[in-house]
Amino acid sequence: MKKGFMVVFDGSNGAGKTTVIQSIEKYLISKGVDVLLTREPGGTPIGEKIRDVILDPKTPEMSFMTELMLFGAGRAQHIQEKIIPALSAGKVVISDRFDAATFSFQHYARGIDIDTITKINDLALNGFSPHMNIILDLDPAEGLKRVQSRGEGLDRLEDEKADFLIRARNGYLKQAEQSPEKFEVVDAAQSKEKVLSDVINIIDVLLSQQQEKHS
Ligand code: TMP
Repeated sequence: MKKGFMVVFDGSNGAGKTTVIQSIEKYLISKGVDVLLTREPGGTPIGEKIRDVILDPKTPEMSFMTELMLFGAGRAQHIQEKIIPALSAGKVVISDRFDAATFSFQHYARGIDIDTITKINDLALNGFSPHMNIILDLDPAEGLKRVQSRGEGLDRLEDEKADFLIRARNGYLKQAEQSPEKFEVVDAAQSKEKVLSDVINIIDVLLSQQQEKHS
Protein backbone atom coordinates (compact mmCIF):
# COMPACT_ATOMS: atom_id res chain seq x y z
CA MET A 1 0.00 0.00 0.00
CA LYS A 2 1.25 3.53 -0.79
CA LYS A 3 1.03 6.63 1.40
CA GLY A 4 -2.77 6.70 1.79
CA PHE A 5 -4.47 6.86 5.13
CA MET A 6 -8.02 7.26 6.35
CA VAL A 7 -9.47 9.80 8.77
CA VAL A 8 -13.04 9.61 10.02
CA PHE A 9 -15.00 12.63 11.26
CA ASP A 10 -17.71 11.69 13.67
CA GLY A 11 -19.65 12.96 16.67
CA SER A 12 -23.01 14.42 17.62
CA ASN A 13 -25.50 15.30 14.89
CA GLY A 14 -25.16 19.01 14.15
CA ALA A 15 -21.59 19.26 15.50
CA GLY A 16 -20.34 20.76 12.21
CA LYS A 17 -18.76 17.74 10.50
CA THR A 18 -19.73 18.84 7.00
CA THR A 19 -18.22 22.32 7.32
CA VAL A 20 -15.02 20.98 8.89
CA ILE A 21 -14.66 18.24 6.27
CA GLN A 22 -15.03 20.75 3.42
CA SER A 23 -12.37 23.00 4.96
CA ILE A 24 -10.01 20.08 5.56
CA GLU A 25 -10.44 18.94 1.97
CA LYS A 26 -9.36 22.41 0.79
CA TYR A 27 -6.46 22.42 3.24
CA LEU A 28 -5.18 19.04 2.06
CA ILE A 29 -5.54 19.96 -1.61
CA SER A 30 -3.54 23.15 -0.95
CA LYS A 31 -0.77 20.88 0.38
CA GLY A 32 -0.84 18.80 -2.80
CA VAL A 33 -2.56 15.84 -1.14
CA ASP A 34 -4.86 13.64 -3.21
CA VAL A 35 -8.11 13.47 -1.20
CA LEU A 36 -11.22 11.34 -1.41
CA LEU A 37 -14.30 12.47 0.53
CA THR A 38 -16.87 9.89 1.41
CA ARG A 39 -19.54 9.14 4.01
CA GLU A 40 -21.49 6.55 5.94
CA PRO A 41 -24.14 5.52 5.69
CA GLY A 42 -23.52 5.92 1.94
CA GLY A 43 -20.34 6.39 -0.02
CA THR A 44 -21.21 4.08 -2.93
CA PRO A 45 -24.31 3.83 -5.16
CA ILE A 46 -25.42 0.76 -3.17
CA GLY A 47 -24.51 2.45 0.12
CA GLU A 48 -26.55 5.55 -0.75
CA LYS A 49 -29.62 3.37 -1.41
CA ILE A 50 -29.04 1.68 1.95
CA ARG A 51 -28.71 5.15 3.55
CA ASP A 52 -32.14 6.14 2.23
CA VAL A 53 -33.66 2.99 3.73
CA ILE A 54 -31.91 3.43 7.10
CA LEU A 55 -32.70 7.11 7.61
CA ASP A 56 -36.27 7.17 6.25
CA PRO A 57 -38.41 8.75 9.04
CA LYS A 58 -41.48 7.04 7.52
CA THR A 59 -40.33 3.59 8.70
CA PRO A 60 -39.93 3.87 12.49
CA GLU A 61 -40.74 0.14 12.72
CA MET A 62 -37.23 -0.88 11.53
CA SER A 63 -35.83 -3.45 13.99
CA PHE A 64 -32.53 -2.67 15.70
CA MET A 65 -30.95 -5.78 14.17
CA THR A 66 -32.08 -4.82 10.65
CA GLU A 67 -30.59 -1.37 11.19
CA LEU A 68 -27.29 -2.83 12.42
CA MET A 69 -27.02 -5.22 9.49
CA LEU A 70 -27.83 -2.49 6.97
CA PHE A 71 -25.01 -0.34 8.37
CA GLY A 72 -22.76 -3.41 8.14
CA ALA A 73 -23.82 -4.19 4.56
CA GLY A 74 -23.16 -0.63 3.44
CA ARG A 75 -19.75 -0.66 5.14
CA ALA A 76 -18.67 -3.91 3.47
CA GLN A 77 -19.49 -2.44 0.06
CA HIS A 78 -17.86 0.89 0.93
CA ILE A 79 -14.55 -0.67 1.94
CA GLN A 80 -14.29 -2.99 -1.04
CA GLU A 81 -15.56 -0.65 -3.74
CA LYS A 82 -14.17 2.69 -2.63
CA ILE A 83 -11.86 2.83 0.39
CA ILE A 84 -9.30 0.11 -0.33
CA PRO A 85 -8.80 1.19 -3.96
CA ALA A 86 -8.34 4.83 -2.89
CA LEU A 87 -5.83 3.95 -0.17
CA SER A 88 -3.97 1.69 -2.57
CA ALA A 89 -3.72 4.63 -4.97
CA GLY A 90 -2.09 6.69 -2.17
CA LYS A 91 -5.10 8.90 -1.42
CA VAL A 92 -6.09 10.36 1.92
CA VAL A 93 -9.64 9.16 2.56
CA ILE A 94 -11.87 11.40 4.68
CA SER A 95 -15.11 9.77 5.77
CA ASP A 96 -18.07 11.46 7.38
CA ARG A 97 -18.76 8.74 9.99
CA PHE A 98 -17.65 5.09 9.94
CA ASP A 99 -17.46 2.12 12.32
CA ALA A 100 -17.20 4.09 15.60
CA ALA A 101 -20.76 5.31 14.93
CA THR A 102 -22.02 1.73 15.04
CA PHE A 103 -20.58 1.29 18.54
CA SER A 104 -21.98 4.64 19.66
CA PHE A 105 -25.44 4.41 18.15
CA GLN A 106 -26.23 0.70 17.89
CA HIS A 107 -24.42 -0.39 21.08
CA TYR A 108 -24.33 2.52 23.53
CA ALA A 109 -27.57 4.20 22.38
CA ARG A 110 -29.71 1.27 21.14
CA GLY A 111 -28.35 -1.24 23.62
CA ILE A 112 -27.43 -4.10 21.23
CA ASP A 113 -24.79 -6.20 23.00
CA ILE A 114 -21.16 -5.48 22.16
CA ASP A 115 -20.41 -9.02 20.88
CA THR A 116 -23.13 -8.78 18.23
CA ILE A 117 -21.94 -5.32 17.16
CA THR A 118 -18.34 -6.53 16.99
CA LYS A 119 -19.36 -9.59 14.97
CA ILE A 120 -21.21 -7.56 12.32
CA ASN A 121 -18.56 -4.83 12.25
CA ASP A 122 -15.75 -7.39 11.89
CA LEU A 123 -17.56 -9.08 9.02
CA ALA A 124 -17.92 -5.72 7.29
CA LEU A 125 -14.42 -4.48 8.03
CA ASN A 126 -12.67 -7.74 7.10
CA GLY A 127 -9.51 -6.71 8.97
CA PHE A 128 -9.60 -3.07 7.89
CA SER A 129 -9.52 -0.17 10.34
CA PRO A 130 -9.40 3.58 9.72
CA HIS A 131 -6.23 5.29 10.95
CA MET A 132 -7.85 8.02 13.05
CA ASN A 133 -11.30 9.08 14.26
CA ILE A 134 -11.77 12.77 14.98
CA ILE A 135 -14.78 13.23 17.23
CA LEU A 136 -16.47 16.63 17.07
CA ASP A 137 -17.96 16.61 20.52
CA LEU A 138 -21.08 18.65 21.25
CA ASP A 139 -24.02 18.53 23.61
CA PRO A 140 -26.66 16.77 21.45
CA ALA A 141 -29.33 19.31 22.47
CA GLU A 142 -27.17 22.08 20.99
CA GLY A 143 -26.50 19.92 17.92
CA LEU A 144 -30.20 19.34 17.32
CA LYS A 145 -30.87 23.08 17.63
CA ARG A 146 -28.29 23.64 14.89
CA VAL A 147 -29.87 20.93 12.67
CA GLN A 148 -33.33 22.43 13.18
CA SER A 149 -32.12 25.97 12.48
CA ARG A 150 -30.98 24.79 9.03
CA GLY A 151 -34.64 24.08 8.33
CA GLU A 152 -33.98 20.42 7.52
CA GLY A 153 -36.38 17.75 8.74
CA LEU A 154 -35.05 15.23 11.25
CA ASP A 155 -34.04 11.76 9.97
CA ARG A 156 -35.15 8.54 11.67
CA LEU A 157 -32.24 8.56 14.13
CA GLU A 158 -32.31 12.28 14.90
CA ASP A 159 -35.97 11.81 15.70
CA GLU A 160 -35.11 9.56 18.66
CA LYS A 161 -35.59 10.75 22.24
CA ALA A 162 -32.99 13.15 23.70
CA ASP A 163 -31.37 10.52 25.93
CA PHE A 164 -30.68 8.32 22.86
CA LEU A 165 -28.42 11.03 21.44
CA ILE A 166 -26.83 11.62 24.85
CA ARG A 167 -25.95 7.90 25.10
CA ALA A 168 -24.48 8.03 21.58
CA ARG A 169 -22.34 11.03 22.53
CA ASN A 170 -21.11 9.28 25.67
CA GLY A 171 -20.36 6.24 23.51
CA TYR A 172 -17.92 8.27 21.42
CA LEU A 173 -16.26 9.64 24.55
CA LYS A 174 -15.91 6.12 25.99
CA GLN A 175 -14.35 4.81 22.78
CA ALA A 176 -11.92 7.74 22.78
CA GLU A 177 -10.97 6.95 26.36
CA GLN A 178 -10.46 3.26 25.59
CA SER A 179 -8.46 3.75 22.37
CA PRO A 180 -6.61 7.08 22.59
CA GLU A 181 -4.31 6.05 19.73
CA LYS A 182 -7.32 5.86 17.39
CA PHE A 183 -9.38 8.81 18.63
CA GLU A 184 -9.00 12.58 18.99
CA VAL A 185 -11.80 14.58 20.59
CA VAL A 186 -12.34 18.19 19.54
CA ASP A 187 -14.68 20.49 21.46
CA ALA A 188 -17.22 21.51 18.81
CA ALA A 189 -18.80 24.13 21.09
CA GLN A 190 -15.78 26.38 20.39
CA SER A 191 -15.77 28.98 17.60
CA LYS A 192 -15.63 27.58 14.04
CA GLU A 193 -12.11 28.97 13.67
CA LYS A 194 -10.83 27.26 16.82
CA VAL A 195 -12.49 23.94 15.90
CA LEU A 196 -10.84 24.10 12.50
CA SER A 197 -7.40 24.99 13.86
CA ASP A 198 -7.62 22.11 16.39
CA VAL A 199 -8.49 19.73 13.56
CA ILE A 200 -5.70 21.06 11.32
CA ASN A 201 -3.19 20.42 14.12
CA ILE A 202 -4.32 16.78 14.26
CA ILE A 203 -4.19 16.42 10.47
CA ASP A 204 -0.68 17.94 10.34
CA VAL A 205 0.58 15.37 12.85
CA LEU A 206 -0.95 12.56 10.79
CA LEU A 207 0.60 13.92 7.59
CA SER A 208 4.06 14.17 9.13
CA GLN A 209 3.80 10.68 10.67
CA GLN A 210 2.83 9.35 7.27
CA GLN A 211 5.72 11.17 5.58
CA GLU A 212 8.18 9.75 8.12
CA LYS A 213 6.86 6.25 7.56
CA HIS A 214 7.41 6.52 3.82
CA SER A 215 10.63 8.54 3.69
P1 TMP B 1 -25.35 11.87 9.16
O1 TMP B 1 -24.26 11.10 8.48
O2 TMP B 1 -26.18 12.62 8.22
O3 TMP B 1 -24.88 12.64 10.32
O4 TMP B 1 -26.41 10.83 9.75
C1 TMP B 1 -26.30 9.50 9.76
C2 TMP B 1 -27.02 8.95 10.97
O5 TMP B 1 -26.76 7.56 11.06
C3 TMP B 1 -26.59 9.56 12.29
O6 TMP B 1 -27.72 9.76 13.11
C4 TMP B 1 -25.71 8.49 12.90
C5 TMP B 1 -26.28 7.23 12.35
N1 TMP B 1 -25.33 6.12 12.23
C6 TMP B 1 -25.53 4.98 13.03
O7 TMP B 1 -26.47 4.93 13.80
N2 TMP B 1 -24.65 3.94 12.89
C7 TMP B 1 -23.61 3.95 12.00
O8 TMP B 1 -22.84 2.97 11.92
C8 TMP B 1 -23.43 5.13 11.17
C9 TMP B 1 -22.31 5.18 10.17
C10 TMP B 1 -24.31 6.19 11.33
